[in-house]
Amino acid sequence: MIKKFFKGLKGLVTYDADREFYAKTFPDSLNRVDLMRFRKMTKADLPKVLAIEATGYQFPWTEGLFLDCLKAGHYGNWVCEDTEDKIVAFCITSIAVGEVNILNLCIAPDERKQGLGKKFMEHIIEKAKEKKAESVFLEVRPSNVGAIALYESLGFNQIGVRDGYYKKEDGTREDAIMMAYTIMNFSA
Ligand SMILES: CC(C)(COP(=O)(O)OP(=O)(O)OC[C@H]1O[C@@H](n2cnc3c(N)ncnc32)[C@H](O)[C@@H]1OP(=O)(O)O)[C@@H](O)C(=O)NCCC(=O)NCCS
Repeated sequence: MIKKFFKGLKGLVTYDADREFYAKTFPDSLNRVDLMRFRKMTKADLPKVLAIEATGYQFPWTEGLFLDCLKAGHYGNWVCEDTEDKIVAFCITSIAVGEVNILNLCIAPDERKQGLGKKFMEHIIEKAKEKKAESVFLEVRPSNVGAIALYESLGFNQIGVRDGYYKKEDGTREDAIMMAYTIMNFSA
């Protein structure tokens, strides 16, 4: 009964503006990641987004690339904030008819391996469902075993390989694994 109450409360808190109140009142019932929130990225977020980006990749995106994504009307540009409104992760998606492509997902190093990547992906899948998309696609380096494990744990499947898609630091190229997630539309 108590467990059920906290579970219900947790669901509410994830979407409720009063999360800090609940965190203080029931500190043991929620973990930090449960209390993190998603909102649309703005230009003012770019310094923090670029700092996180620099920690995630050998060849980070430039500011210009992020600005292009912010200008494009068919992009979903998201940040995730902790309870102190500090940006801890971001995700860029492009949205076309029937499909969402995940172009960039990056979690701040000290927030990794705590379930935030999974929570962010679930958020993106939820948004894809709202857009009536049927599939979510992404590309990942074969060497990025952590990311591949995350995507597989959510139900993504490998659908192909793009030969020599990514640059490597030693000047050679690395393939991209293409992955897809199928959204079940039970109302159809
Ligand atoms: C890849 C990345 C997004 C994962 O985010 P995260 O918050 O650390 O992932 P989570 O804690 O939600 O992990 C969820 C599941 O993914 C898998 N996983 C995540 N990181 C892993 C790792 N380093 N090694 C093995 N499995 C891992 C596990 O199955 C994990 O479930 P478990 O904790 O129950 O075992 C994050 O490491 C990151 O931002 N990396 C740098 C940028 C990047 O590579 N982005 C992806 C580009 S395609």
